[in-house]
Amino acid sequence: MANEGVNNGRRRFLTATTAVVGGVGVAATGYAFLSSWKPSARAQSAAAPVEVDISRLDLQPNARLTVQWRGKPVWIFRRNEEQLAVLPGLAERLADPDSENTDQTPAFARNLARSIKPEIGVLVGICTHLGCSPTYVPELRPQAFDSEWRGGFFCPCHNSRFDIAGRVFAGVPAPANLPVPPHHFDPGNPNLVIIGIAPEEVA
Ligand code: FES
Repeated sequence: MANEGVNNGRRRFLTATTAVVGGVGVAATGYAFLSSWKPSARAQSAAAPVEVDISRLDLQPNARLTVQWRGKPVWIFRRNEEQLAVLPGLAERLADPDSENTDQTPAFARNLARSIKPEIGVLVGICTHLGCSPTYVPELRPQAFDSEWRGGFFCPCHNSRFDIAGRVFAGVPAPANLPVPPHHFDPGNPNLVIIGIAPEEVA
């Protein structure tokens, strides 16, 4: 039967995924990074999906996981209600507030928080200008680079700024929002995110 074929295919796909087993640490900046993990060369060459246990995000406010997927860093982080509440008011400061450039935003993430669950952000951590790694600045308070900072990511290479949903500010060198990678939550485990497979591929 067709459904059985889909389910078998999904089982095989998920069997091929690679579990993240990184350790836990605290960054010198005061908020947590939780892991930097690199899959085996075999997994990388196969572009295997990556399973991430996000229960560790509850260990510390503003925690963030970093995993490697297809040779790129992917950030997974939790947003609190205060961080989410500022998103509607930022539109005028942004270049693409509605994520109309679909190169960076797949259909399942075309919403205000650019995510499946508003409280969980999943972004490719590479600046869309020249590829530097932006700094995570989740606090909602003035910064040296922005006196009206409301949380997000700052790229120190050429001063590009992104909000906590990865939306790029207007007038900075970066031309586009931070990409949202294909991903979904395991239907049987809300603490398991699979990077590399979009929701529509498992429906
Ligand atoms: S690489 Fe990020 S602003 Fe240039």
